[in-house]
Amino acid sequence: MIRLAPSILSADFSRIGEAVRLVEDAGADLLHLDIMDGHFVPNLTLGPQAVSSIRKMTRLPIDVHLMVENPGLFIPLFHEAGADWISIHIEASVHLHRDISLIKELGSKAGIVLNPATPIQLLNDILKELDFILLMSVNPGFGGQKFIESTHQKIRQLQSWIDEQHLSIPIEVDGGVSPSNAESLIQDGAEILVVGAAIFAAEDPVGTIARLKEIIARGNRS
Ligand code: DX5
Ligand code: ZN
Repeated sequence: MIRLAPSILSADFSRIGEAVRLVEDAGADLLHLDIMDGHFVPNLTLGPQAVSSIRKMTRLPIDVHLMVENPGLFIPLFHEAGADWISIHIEASVHLHRDISLIKELGSKAGIVLNPATPIQLLNDILKELDFILLMSVNPGFGGQKFIESTHQKIRQLQSWIDEQHLSIPIEVDGGVSPSNAESLIQDGAEILVVGAAIFAAEDPVGTIARLKEIIARGNRS
């Protein structure tokens, strides 16, 4: 099943409740929250307290994307704050197996994120443990960046590797996703589309979500 995960990174933070309601009412499947620590990426965003406030505003599953160093330190805090899905960067985790096990023991879905230049082969010894894999299609840190075209091939390679192993692990794609590339990403094998600026910088965010939902519905039928 293909799912839409709006990222509120590009929303107006003085009206964050409205942004969350907008995406939920328009039919989002997950709410993607970008957590940045100012070390792993050159930007700062939300802490556990903010996630916990957002948790109270929505019934959508919360997909927390941790762009932080020492992710193991923060996993329990974000789980406690209400994260249903938690992903950590392979480039940031020294004890990857321990961190993924911790997410699963706590009861959240566990995912690993790969930066654009990080090869999928690094997942070899942990692939079977994963609930999902997030492929970055921009360099993490900011919303509204241009999609990196080589991601198409990376998704196709990862999907065929997952199929060869007879596994079922959804691929999430994050960065520069919009109605103009959503269909081809779905054809490549992406099952979770994170979309930030294409929704929140659009003149008609609700209409943009509707277009994305149509593309996803076509993908789910084929
Ligand atoms: C970037 C974040 C993304 C970002 C996506 O570091 O991980 O989730 O919000 O936003 P757009 O769709 O604007 O590229
Ligand atoms: Zn993200």
